[in-house]
Amino acid sequence: MTEQLRPDGSLRHLLTLETLSRAQLERLLDRAQTFVRPLGERPPRTQALAGLTVANLFTEPSTRTRVSFELAAKRLGAEVVNLEVQLSSRVKGESMLDTVYTLQSLHVDALVIRDAEAGVPGLVAGHVAPHVSVLSAGEAHVSHPTQGLLDTLTIYQRKQRFAGLAVAIVGDVRHSRVARSAWHALRALGVADVRLVGPAALMPAANEFEGCARFRSIGRGLEGVDVIMMLRIQKERFGDADVPDGEKYFAAWGLTPERLALARPDAIVMHPQPMNRGIEIASEVADGAQSVIRDQVRNGVAVRMAVLAEVLGARRA
Ligand code: NCD
Repeated sequence: MTEQLRPDGSLRHLLTLETLSRAQLERLLDRAQTFVRPLGERPPRTQALAGLTVANLFTEPSTRTRVSFELAAKRLGAEVVNLEVQLSSRVKGESMLDTVYTLQSLHVDALVIRDAEAGVPGLVAGHVAPHVSVLSAGEAHVSHPTQGLLDTLTIYQRKQRFAGLAVAIVGDVRHSRVARSAWHALRALGVADVRLVGPAALMPAANEFEGCARFRSIGRGLEGVDVIMMLRIQKERFGDADVPDGEKYFAAWGLTPERLALARPDAIVMHPQPMNRGIEIASEVADGAQSVIRDQVRNGVAVRMAVLAEVLGARRA
């Protein structure tokens, strides 16, 4: 795997949270918190990255992640270019690298990459010039590190702790990069009770998510938890396997007000979005008092500002 850290220990790329220490995660979360403002207030703006250029290279659809990376870079004073790479002309290994070398020749300093193929952000990170950083904006089912950071920041804002929390991750865990990155961060931050809740067909392989209890009933899985992370059914990653019927899925696994009542009364409800209302989650719950789904989106910009400042901040020195 491509090394994410510079020889001095600072963060150069962000490809996964799996290898980051608790101290490194806490540093990023603390930094992100400094960029959070209540809605209605002006977001912070600095010129910390003035003169630097960030390119968004997305070969999978994205709303929140792409827009928030763009806003994060602009609010730090960087220039941004967005490359809309069509899925139809989707490139593999070699031609992806040619695109990257082109951007590098145009003085791009950071590449934000979302790709459906596992290994692409790491491959690119292994080939860019030493001054260029690569940030994963979602790698296949493998990893979505800034999402893991924004999810843990959202949890911390509401709970003010990680130790002793019980977190249920519900739904299509098997195909979810969101679940994997959340798990890496939660584990490092000291959350011992992480539960995977969902049908057998959507559970990850037995050797993944080591130490997480697995629940085949949503009622039991949600009992007494502090945090419920709902996941979208990742239809695009099913290959030949059958995608569950929406109505049946909601009946067995959907988060309804009645099921939410099984969690702690102050439990928070999360969803990375896009969400399928009436399939994974009832609208009353998604829009209800315990939902922090919109906080997650707001925190996404703050986290991406923190990550960009962290990897590119030293460049001006
Ligand atoms: C997620 C993703 O793309 O992995 N969305 C996001 O980035 N917030 C989740 C999903 O697509 O289900």
